[in-house]
Amino acid sequence: MTYFRKNINAMGGYTPGKQPKGGGYIKLNTNENPFPPSPKVLEAIKEAADDELRKYPDPMGTAAREKAADVFGVEPGMVLCGNGSDELLTMIVRAFAGEGDLIITPYPTYSLYETLAEIQGARFESIDFEEDYSLPADFARPDAKITFVPNPNSPSGTVVPKDVLRDLAGKLDGILVIDEAYVEFADSDCLGLVNELPNVIVLRTFSKSFSLAGMRIGFGFAQKEIIDGLIKVKDSYNVNRLFIAAAVAGLDDMEHVRGNAQKIRENRAHLTQQLRGLGAYVWPSQSNFVLARFSPPVSARRLFEELEARKILVRYFKYRRLEDCLRITVGTRQEIDALMGAMAELVESKAVVV
Ligand SMILES: Cc1ncc(COP(=O)(O)O)c(C=O)c1O
Repeated sequence: MTYFRKNINAMGGYTPGKQPKGGGYIKLNTNENPFPPSPKVLEAIKEAADDELRKYPDPMGTAAREKAADVFGVEPGMVLCGNGSDELLTMIVRAFAGEGDLIITPYPTYSLYETLAEIQGARFESIDFEEDYSLPADFARPDAKITFVPNPNSPSGTVVPKDVLRDLAGKLDGILVIDEAYVEFADSDCLGLVNELPNVIVLRTFSKSFSLAGMRIGFGFAQKEIIDGLIKVKDSYNVNRLFIAAAVAGLDDMEHVRGNAQKIRENRAHLTQQLRGLGAYVWPSQSNFVLARFSPPVSARRLFEELEARKILVRYFKYRRLEDCLRITVGTRQEIDALMGAMAELVESKAVVV
């Protein structure tokens, strides 16, 4: 006896990265930003935490929407606020994919897309990235209702060029979602495609480059017809008063974001070099994490376990193509040095050899 729909019974649910209780951890497992958010954002949140919280927020988060339109150079009608980009992903699946409809992603990638397809009862297919994480030539499935491409991709950190995504959108009868969660750490972005193409949605989040994962701030960009349709499926008050204050203040201090992103790029180069020095293969990352592959006799899984025992958290995925890899968030220089010291010691002592 079960009360659930068949597909909910059958699915496992999304597993987020570990959020440990207690301090003392070096946390390089969920791609949070190691640097603090803008002081102006913290000030704006404190100011907004007043008696006005009795009242519902603006249903569209208009102040944040207009500010984002201004900063990113689009019309306000082309912007939608979301409680993190995860909520925007939910809205998109709800709006465009019915039961049995096809949803496509590359593989390996952010696994929430598959979870959302399962919840919806949609048909889900993933198509393998090439070894260098370029999209295969036959990736386009014109009949897919939604095609998701995170760019940069997680867990590889790699980027698909804008021209390739423009061509892909042109081949699809459905929607192409370009999930730019990590784009501020990359050399290019695809936001301009929303002006060119009626079937492209670009997503952004404040969880990474704005150091605001705890605030759940996301934005979707697309042509007005698409945004208007998504508004129909959103929760009535999907963003709260503190969201709106923090988003506006964050967008007012892009210098802070760019400064932190630059530090992360520098630390990423250092981390990449250190990992390669230890014999790992590291894909060229344009994100705030790197994917490192370890060769026998070193076991990525054992490294993950032994690092966790030392309170250093990195991400290990028990999925095909990733069993010999670790995804490591770019932390501060001290965090990277502590990680690399522990790794070198573990490899040298053969504690992680299988
Ligand atoms: C590719 C990708 N998209 C979206 C998200 C979710 O972002 P948010 O915190 O805005 O919900 C993540 C989070 O790790 C991600 O890796």
